[in-house]
Amino acid sequence: MMSWSPGSWREKPAKHIPSDYPDPAGLAQTEAALSTYPPLVFAGEARRLRDSLAQVARGEAFLLQGGDCAESFKEFHPNNIRDTFRVLLQMAVVMTFGAAMPVIKVGRIAGQFAKPRSSPTETKDGQTLPSYRGDNINGMEFSADARMPDPTRLLQAYGQAAATLNLIRAFATGGYADLANVHRWNLEFVSDSPQDHQYRAFADKISEAITFMKACGVDGRSVRAIGEVDFYTSHEALLLGYEQAMTRIDSTSDKWYDTSAHMLWIGDRTRQPDGAHVEFCRGVENPIGLKCGPTLEPDELIRLVDILNPANDAGRIVLIARFGAENAAAGLPPLVKKVQAEGRNVVWSCDPMHGNTIKAGDGFKTRRVDAILSEVGTFFDVCLAEGAYPGGVHFEMTGQNVTECLGGSKEEVLEADLSSRYHTHCDPRLNANQALELAFILADRFKERRAAAAV
Ligand code: TRP
Ligand code: MN
Repeated sequence: MMSWSPGSWREKPAKHIPSDYPDPAGLAQTEAALSTYPPLVFAGEARRLRDSLAQVARGEAFLLQGGDCAESFKEFHPNNIRDTFRVLLQMAVVMTFGAAMPVIKVGRIAGQFAKPRSSPTETKDGQTLPSYRGDNINGMEFSADARMPDPTRLLQAYGQAAATLNLIRAFATGGYADLANVHRWNLEFVSDSPQDHQYRAFADKISEAITFMKACGVDGRSVRAIGEVDFYTSHEALLLGYEQAMTRIDSTSDKWYDTSAHMLWIGDRTRQPDGAHVEFCRGVENPIGLKCGPTLEPDELIRLVDILNPANDAGRIVLIARFGAENAAAGLPPLVKKVQAEGRNVVWSCDPMHGNTIKAGDGFKTRRVDAILSEVGTFFDVCLAEGAYPGGVHFEMTGQNVTECLGGSKEEVLEADLSSRYHTHCDPRLNANQALELAFILADRFKERRAAAAV
């Protein structure tokens, strides 16, 4: 294989990267400036995440990854960051209890801006303009001016990612993430949920465990593991100029790390084995996600896994299945079977969002909570049937009380409600209630499975 450098991807065909910057010299200047900015994450943290994912690959932990479809400059607000972080932690508590295993927490946050689009242009009232590609590239407003790619947006995205990460780090270690604290929020959710009886029993057991530990002298003050969490960031490695600028040699290991996030993933549309995105990702040491959709052939999957992880290290690769509730039962088994047969060490995770997008109401892009749940269920069944470990979930969600996905038992979102708080910059997200409810349901299944395994 060709030798790798942070810029070697430029020799390869690159899909979904804009080539129409009006001022290429300005773009190059901005990238050069970025390459002198402080890294957002430290290589040692990415290594720690790899170790944790290796634990997942061995079936000893579970991965929870979630956050916005796309972050935006407009929705950049401390309350939004706090609320997304809070729901992820709330989910993590119930899942940790249900699985009786560590839950590895990874946000789609602090850098998730760029979006691949199905069409490079958008036509409205007879006018055709470049599509919106994410706030780090161009603006969402439908005007020629806004849709022009603008390199200064990269600097704003970096600044927003840095500030977001700074707040998350403060929350993760400053007392906000204390187990007792997070559990208290869950009790509030449970107390006025229509599924009260079901979730209540679960929550009560967690309360008992926390009270018992406290009586024994184990609480957030005395034990760091109770008062703090490890929280990691991730985004799609789409805009490779930015990723290259953030890629640095780690002085402790002498290896390359993309310091824009702890984990990166390759999208289903940019995973060509000879393409730029695979080329870039193969050379950085961060954990790498790979979205696996219905068009991926088992042989090609093995080829990709081998390019990205020639040493077959557990914890390096997360395969994120996104088939859709209806296609998963037929589409996923051949991939899982092949990876098992070839003995590749991977984490299997399920993205039940992207294969389940429909139009409903007044043409709103939406997803049904039921379909999401159904795909997760199929994912678990398929993995277990093939002797693989279903290791994680990947959700698009927000802490805001939006009406973007249909369903949920607490304040159910109906088609007629979609228009009331539909705020997403891209795909429809689970709101806080829907996300937490999914966590309770998942936790219950974990528990059943543990009970069955013990028999
Ligand atoms: N540190 C442990 C963990 O991250 C326990 C913990 C503390 C925790 N606060 C939490 C777990 C909040 C989930 C959510 O697993
Ligand atoms: Mn999306």
